[in-house]
Amino acid sequence: MIKILQRCIIALALTLTIALTAALTTNISYAEGTQSLSPDLRSLLNKEMQALQSGMQALIPAYVAGDMVKIAAIAKNMKESYILKQSITNKQKHELMEKLPKAFLHLDKQFHQRAGMLEHVAQERHSELVGFYYGKLLESCVGCHSQHASHRFTALKKPADDHGHHH
Ligand code: HEC
Repeated sequence: MIKILQRCIIALALTLTIALTAALTTNISYAEGTQSLSPDLRSLLNKEMQALQSGMQALIPAYVAGDMVKIAAIAKNMKESYILKQSITNKQKHELMEKLPKAFLHLDKQFHQRAGMLEHVAQERHSELVGFYYGKLLESCVGCHSQHASHRFTALKKPADDHGHHH
């Protein structure tokens, strides 16, 4: 068990390093994307983010206790938290599609797919894969924040941002 945990931690550290390196070497910034959203939508998005963060935190005690049922339930919630599936009007949906860059929507979709994978491997009781997909989810958080939320998380700002490389 300790060996498995050790391996998971090493895998996690590795994924994080790779995610950070990838994020830091990417030279594109769409920071104005979510900043340009109407207040209602932006607050909805931030609520989704806070729920995701709570989910990530709640996964730790469930994982160390081997509670796969709980992990699957949390992952399912995260998978379904997709902002485009919330009760928003067609007009708001249109606004999201219009204002958020394709790359953002792609990362968001990928994130929710990974949450779905976490749910799946927890249902199958694949403890090691649970650790793997937890790392993948973290990678998604950091990856997207580096590209699209460095206005909020300034430590993720890349030097290239200063040159106004906007699209
Ligand atoms: C597809 C992109 C994307 C992904 C994936 C993503 N985020 Fe975010 N997140 C953002 C953006 C953009 C903001 C800033 C929104 C704004 O401009 O107000 C943000 C803001 C936040 C905030 C601040 C919320 C607030 O109220 O100020 C938290 C906390 C957060 N994210 C946590 C997470 C966690 C944890 C994950 C992964 C489990 C995650 N995010 C995944 C794009 C993303």
